[in-house]
Amino acid sequence: MSLAVVEGLTRRFDVSKPWLERVIGRQPKRSLTAVSDVSMTIEAGRTYALVGESGSGKSTIGRMVAGLLRPSEGEVRIDGEAVRAPRADVQMIFQDPYASLNPRWRVGDIVAEPARARGMEVEPGALLERVGLRAIDAQRYPHEFSGGQRQRIGVARALSSRPRLIVADEPTSALDVSVQAQVLNLMKDLQEETGIAFLLISHDLTVIRHMADVIGVLYLGRLVEEAAPATLFERPAHPYTAMLIDAAPKLDGFGREVPPPVGEIPDPIAPPPGCAYNPRCPLAIDLCRRERPALEPVGPGRAACHRAGEVRLEGVA
Ligand SMILES: Nc1ncnc2c1ncn2[C@@H]1O[C@H](COP(=O)(O)OP(=O)(O)OP(=O)(O)O)[C@@H](O)[C@H]1O
Ligand SMILES: [Mg+2]
Repeated sequence: MSLAVVEGLTRRFDVSKPWLERVIGRQPKRSLTAVSDVSMTIEAGRTYALVGESGSGKSTIGRMVAGLLRPSEGEVRIDGEAVRAPRADVQMIFQDPYASLNPRWRVGDIVAEPARARGMEVEPGALLERVGLRAIDAQRYPHEFSGGQRQRIGVARALSSRPRLIVADEPTSALDVSVQAQVLNLMKDLQEETGIAFLLISHDLTVIRHMADVIGVLYLGRLVEEAAPATLFERPAHPYTAMLIDAAPKLDGFGREVPPPVGEIPDPIAPPPGCAYNPRCPLAIDLCRRERPALEPVGPGRAACHRAGEVRLEGVA
């Protein structure tokens, strides 16, 4: 069953220089399109994962889904109703749990806040126990916890208003590799128990692979491919997805990601004509430089590529 329907979602930001500087330098207003015509559906109780490089528009989509940012065009609908403001049934988990937890509040009050703000009753101790902490931790302050524990507090907080959807924006990127899996497993367990849906945002395909029911790949604000993980990893239909997969497992000796991908992300203020990926694409032909491909059904998923049928993974014949 569809929980959140995103349709034609577009968001522009005004990135002009300050007025005086602009007038003196005779510069026009400039606008950056962070998200462009994105349509997707998040099913109830499922995980939709958004992946893409830095600046591809992941957080901007997440904030619009959570009602924290207004779309320039298009909309997010929940139960057929356009999202225009934050809602009790949609909550967020952020990358940096410390920055999102008020350091002067006791953990119990932090965790209960989204519910209490809406007049709902909550038992902070019970919430903390659900995320693997102790009820008495409610009396302590955020600085008394480790990074992984703080992210558990962030998860407990997101759960307090009994949401149906949690937007998790890079929920494990700030954590040690060993702790990442624990937090992801916690999210998966909670999903099984409560039927909560996730919009999981990550730049890291390996994080997403075992969590997602559907993966959406973003490039420069546009959805370029969407498919279930098994399809996407075995038979990517977009050359950008193939490049992400080829780059994904390459970790250095410390288990850190090596700086991935070939080529640079183009300037989002002045994207290349045609397919925005064409300057980096090994398969690009003239058509790709002229005409932007539409997102269309390819196999069991969708892809926006003129050469979708010819995409191959490295080392795969
Ligand atoms: N408030 C803003 N004002 C101007 N530009 C913005 C604003 N917020 C985001 N942008 C721009 O919009 C684009 C998308 O940003 P966004 O934060 O959504 O990307 P992201 O995929 O979440 O990146 P990251 O992986 O680094 O978090 C970027 O080019 C960014 O600079
Ligand atoms: Mg982001």
